[in-house]
Amino acid sequence: MSVAARRSTTRSAAMFERIQRSVAGGESSYARLRSGIELCIARTDGPRMWDVDGNEYLDYCLGYGPLLFGHHPPDIVAAVVEQITERGYHYSFPHELDYEVGEALQRLVPGIELVRFACSGTEATMAAMRLARAYTGRERIVKFEGSYHGWSDIHNISYHPALGFGAGTDTAPAPVPDSTGIPRAILDTLVIQPFNNLEVLEHTLRTRHFEIAAVLMEPIIGNCGIIPPLEGYLQEVRRLTQEHGVLLIFDEVMTGFRIAAGGAQEHYGVVPDICTFAKVLGAGFPIACFGGSAQVMAMEATNQVMHGGTYSANPLALAAANAVLRRIERERATMYPALDRLSRRLQDGLLKVVGTAGYPCLIQGVGAFFQLFFLHEPRTRLVDYRDVVRHVRPEVYEAFHEEMQSRGIYFHPGQYERWFLSTEHTEADIDDTVATAAEAIAAVVDRIPPHPRGD
Ligand SMILES: Cc1ncc(COP(=O)(O)O)c(C=O)c1O
Repeated sequence: MSVAARRSTTRSAAMFERIQRSVAGGESSYARLRSGIELCIARTDGPRMWDVDGNEYLDYCLGYGPLLFGHHPPDIVAAVVEQITERGYHYSFPHELDYEVGEALQRLVPGIELVRFACSGTEATMAAMRLARAYTGRERIVKFEGSYHGWSDIHNISYHPALGFGAGTDTAPAPVPDSTGIPRAILDTLVIQPFNNLEVLEHTLRTRHFEIAAVLMEPIIGNCGIIPPLEGYLQEVRRLTQEHGVLLIFDEVMTGFRIAAGGAQEHYGVVPDICTFAKVLGAGFPIACFGGSAQVMAMEATNQVMHGGTYSANPLALAAANAVLRRIERERATMYPALDRLSRRLQDGLLKVVGTAGYPCLIQGVGAFFQLFFLHEPRTRLVDYRDVVRHVRPEVYEAFHEEMQSRGIYFHPGQYERWFLSTEHTEADIDDTVATAAEAIAAVVDRIPPHPRGD
């Protein structure tokens, strides 16, 4: 009997059914709500999780990205436990960790001269957008199709336009709400652009700069698979925004501390006016921040723009962030190159086994996060959202996921998501994953032919 066939998830299924009786849909985030494949987790350790049926999984989802040091790393746990037991976990007054974390962020992130703390990436990016509007006195914000910045009304537009092409044309995408319940008036506050297209952006900024407060971007799109910027693209976006007096916001919620100690802005050498961080910053504890130049952040310092929150700068989350940033400062010289090497080993291995099975495929990523795309035909690069939608085969990815999960390797089931690595994955883990992928892809070939268009 194969390893896959021995696994049972009956307890997960029963528990999930029970959860659904009190929790709408059984999940408290739209992104996790996918009926039929839910695993209920009993415990985790390092790069591994165990479900309530006792099945072990090597985890490449890592809590949707925050767990750069794996599940509950001892140093982060110790810092948080000490904070709770020795000093308390909620003050709503200034405290030592405010400057400890604030100063570490100033040291690490090129674009942070002043910072404010929040509790989630959604909040931090909302605050950044409001700050840009307040600072410039303009209302519209440029956003890129396929980028995700949170689930609130103000930015939940044209992220996955119903997983199709959305509205408008390739070079002039029209805004599409990602959810029912979003007022139509919001659509008019965003200008949607194709990523990696300087010509279109240049035209937009030249003709509409007087009404545009900021260009808001994931410097590497991580929310429709992974789409890195083309060579020189971010540098040109910086130049164009400066030339037209428009602010540049980098949403580094996913890239921050994951690809480099100073995020994508350090990696590409492009400093935005405002930037946001979350995920790795708290290593799983709910903390986020937004920061920027002292000049722009003066609006916050003088309360000319409103930002608040009962739990903003909560000492428990800041204790976690402090431990995360200390560790990054201590280990950055060896940690990021080691993550890059592990990631490369895994990417090479996956490409080899998937390619050998006959599926055209492509991996795009930077450092410790990447996505494997199953394609209709070979391509060397996917450069924007529509490129991804046009060329991928999500049904093959989902089948591959299913075969991997049933063999103990977990990554998010969606083709529009991605794989994350942690410092706790080892070369042996990577090699096991590749060996499992060879088995899994053989099972996928039996289900879905590699060349659906008859070539
Ligand atoms: C780039 C980006 N920005 C913002 C967010 C929202 O962060 P949160 O889920 O912490 O609200 C996410 C979440 O995945 C993200 O990937």
